[in-house]
Amino acid sequence: MAPSEACRRAGDTVLVDEIEREPDLTVHTGGGCGAPPPSTNPRVSKFHAPEIVFGPDSLKEAAHAALRLGARRPFVVTDPGVFEAGWPVELLGHLREAGLAPRLWTDVTPNPKDHEIEAGYHEYVASGCDVVMGLGGGSVIDAAKGVALLASNGGRILDYEGIDRIAHPIPPLIMMPSTSGTGADVSQFCIVTDTERHTKITIMGRALVPDVSVIDPRLLVTMPEWLNAATGLDALTHGIEAFVSLAHGPLTDHHALQAVSLVNEHLAHTMLRPDDRRARQAMAQAALEAGLAFTNAILGATHAMSHQVGGMLDLPHGVVNGVLLPHVVRFNGVTTPERFVPIAQAMGLAGPGVPGDEAVDMVAAAIRKLGDEVGVPAGLGALGVTEADIPRLAVLTLGDACLTTNPRPADVDQVATLFRAAL
Ligand SMILES: NC(=O)c1ccc[n+]([C@@H]2O[C@H](COP(=O)([O-])OP(=O)(O)OC[C@H]3O[C@@H](n4cnc5c(N)ncnc54)[C@H](O)[C@@H]3O)[C@@H](O)[C@H]2O)c1
Ligand SMILES: [Fe+2]
Repeated sequence: MAPSEACRRAGDTVLVDEIEREPDLTVHTGGGCGAPPPSTNPRVSKFHAPEIVFGPDSLKEAAHAALRLGARRPFVVTDPGVFEAGWPVELLGHLREAGLAPRLWTDVTPNPKDHEIEAGYHEYVASGCDVVMGLGGGSVIDAAKGVALLASNGGRILDYEGIDRIAHPIPPLIMMPSTSGTGADVSQFCIVTDTERHTKITIMGRALVPDVSVIDPRLLVTMPEWLNAATGLDALTHGIEAFVSLAHGPLTDHHALQAVSLVNEHLAHTMLRPDDRRARQAMAQAALEAGLAFTNAILGATHAMSHQVGGMLDLPHGVVNGVLLPHVVRFNGVTTPERFVPIAQAMGLAGPGVPGDEAVDMVAAAIRKLGDEVGVPAGLGALGVTEADIPRLAVLTLGDACLTTNPRPADVDQVATLFRAAL
């Protein structure tokens, strides 16, 4: 996919060619607590977001949202792990109380596969449902988006890879995230595993932004520890990549920094005290803020590389990001060191006057330290990646849409070097 095509977002006016040509006039070093100063960047910004319902016990609001969207037979997508945790049964109760006739579909696995989504689409059509609801982590939410996309557009899910290839409006979408990381409940992305090529493809478009996101932090307490760590690092990666992205802007910067600050302050605490509701709510907010930032500012090299590793080895997305992120921070810090000063401030590492190169080192070291604290392996080797995999992973990375907005261009040799450093 050509870079300018890859960065053109659904209905957007911002092309990557413009982004690269325009000087960034934003001053990034002020703000005592790491908040960015008002932007003087003249670029036009758009901000996509669903209606958001946030707070403990908000799950029941999902039934009201479904009614408002005209549902009679909502198609509820979830997976066996989330079902086991009990949340779908609670949701079905709320839906039935509201007079609705829900249909439950649970055949989704982590890193959702192309054939699973196509099977879900056939179920949806056969059941005569009208609204799609996703209750689960990023995998369930992406599967639900994929089912809705096929419901009104037909064909094979992999045909929609790329930007804005969805021609017909899709059924209403209501998402209820059960992990604190992916931001898929507010994003315009749908990530699907291509089981033939053993990679993950990105479908992107305004049509995929859900109508309503219902974020109930109670759902987070049943996450296993490794998932809490992985999704928290995913949110941190979203915040940092969105903040330094070529497509960042005044409407995304504060969400990105707020996400970084919240993860930094609360993730390790949720590992030590899993039942601390305040910290869980802060992590739910971190995932939301990070999602609002990256769905509008897009991402960078960490995600472009991580998608290839995740697709090849079916690994937890956030764990792969956590391993790669410090390496990509050092790589990007060479060309945009000043963007890491507010990030270092948001992590409580430095004051506003710190030189950019020092901020880059501090941020990279702090991410690695947080990874150690929450139990993320030090290298990709421990996750099963080998030296022999690197050439293929590097080539695939160059085709990933997320690389287009990375602040430093990377060729295949530089990506391979990054993979080797992270091994
Ligand atoms: N669409 C987007 O914008 C976007 C953004 C980032 C990541 N993603 C995608 O999201 C996926 C990763 O999602 P994830 O990290 O949220 O995990 P996940 O959805 O893959 O879930 C992992 C496992 O945890 C279980 N689980 C989830 N929530 C639980 C809970 N509350 N209690 C008990 N078990 C629970 C699930 O059953 C599953 O077995 C990847 O495929 C990634 O590519 C999508
Ligand atoms: Fe992610």
